[in-house]
Amino acid sequence: MSEPKSRLAVYPGSFDPLTNGHVDIIRRGARLFDRIVIAILVNIDKSPVFTAEERVDITRQVFRGDPNVEVETFNGLLVDYAARRGADVIVRGLRAISDFEFEMQMALMNRRLSQSIETVFMMPDERYTYLSSRLAKEVFALGGSLDGLVPEVVEIRLRQKSGVRPPAGRS
Ligand code: PNS
Repeated sequence: MSEPKSRLAVYPGSFDPLTNGHVDIIRRGARLFDRIVIAILVNIDKSPVFTAEERVDITRQVFRGDPNVEVETFNGLLVDYAARRGADVIVRGLRAISDFEFEMQMALMNRRLSQSIETVFMMPDERYTYLSSRLAKEVFALGGSLDGLVPEVVEIRLRQKSGVRPPAGRS
């Protein structure tokens, strides 16, 4: 009997920045699939806070203890990248009904582009259902705390970028 095929999933996104909602989905994916590649889109429309290299670096730091989680960048069509990597699953997180329309459009467009790649949706822990990269950036820019919303390294890097010092009592 031949060995069962090792299942590789791709988790694509902008990750500007990585939030604890992303981390939650990645850890769920890493339990479900043999390997999961976090695929960071290089050319995002809006000008990113973090460069692609910085987003890779941050994400690698967060997952350095997880042997079946890889981090890469990609450009162009996601289905082409997934095919090059030999992945047949795209993982996306669904937080609320408001995500559904865009996610359905993407999943069906990707299916039209490639019949052999399936999109799998996962729900994050309910603590993260209202969390997005955009809101995390806004809260930070207006002086709010990101404690529990993003990995510590993200908050540190945001502070370094903006020259903001940590609140008293925090490193
Ligand atoms: O974190 P985001 O911004 O919601 O991620 C969106 C992403 C990167 C998954 C999406 O923009 C994407 O897949 N871009 C690659 C271009 C592509 O394949 N487009 C056609 C399929 S909709």
